[in-house]
Amino acid sequence: MTTTPAPSALPARAFGIDIGGSGIKGAPVDLAKGEFAADRVRIPTPQPSTPEAVARTVGDLFDSFDLPADLPIGVTFPAVIQHGVARSAANVDESWIGTDVTAVIAEATGRRVLAVNDADAAGYAETLYGAARDTRGTVLVVTLGTGIGSCLVVDGTLVPNTELGHLEIDGYDAESRAADSAREREGLDWERWAERLQRYFRVVEDLFWPDLVVVGGGVSKKHEQFLPLLDLRTPIVPARLRNAAGIVGAAALAARGVALD
Ligand code: BGC
Repeated sequence: MTTTPAPSALPARAFGIDIGGSGIKGAPVDLAKGEFAADRVRIPTPQPSTPEAVARTVGDLFDSFDLPADLPIGVTFPAVIQHGVARSAANVDESWIGTDVTAVIAEATGRRVLAVNDADAAGYAETLYGAARDTRGTVLVVTLGTGIGSCLVVDGTLVPNTELGHLEIDGYDAESRAADSAREREGLDWERWAERLQRYFRVVEDLFWPDLVVVGGGVSKKHEQFLPLLDLRTPIVPARLRNAAGIVGAAALAARGVALD
């Protein structure tokens, strides 16, 4: 867990790497603005996405930038990351489970790195620079994509690996019914999908009583289609940083020297 230090103690820049099932992306981040400080580079994720193959790709991506030796580096990964080690694997090769992500990426880049769950990185960025920037208290960021990711931040402190996509609701793993991939797979119209989201978010708000829910993931671009259909007690708003969130959040966490590892 981390508490946000005074902004003056932070470096001006850090580097973020976002490892996903289809792409590996990286960019230096201006930490005052929460924006890329140079163009993002994207390389397709190698298949199979084993630790060796991904490490090579991350190394290539990293080498395409000329970065100062002391730049903090954060990396997101679609899995539970406990003290740097992957404990699950969503859309990446199963051989990652039990792998020390921090060590693999440190070896590939020749630098110390911080590894963090993808939704934790994206959500943390929203609390610093995006839709939850001005909200105190309990913020829950939920990413709707192939799976459902979650990020819980309480008064600026990240509570990592909440994994609320895997709540069991009505006998189902929640993400199997309410993720954006379920909408696509089952050809649900917005109303039908919103019914599932309604059930999901009602359970979540009854358990956590957040002050704000932020909805991220690619489909959040189309928030007008489904957020107005939800009837919740908690304010619910779309994410703002879109596909920059993972990179920006990973960089911001690394710059804070967060003790997740
Ligand atoms: C995984 C999470 C991940 C989320 C979004 C879920 O299936 O369990 O670790 O954050 O997908 O990628």
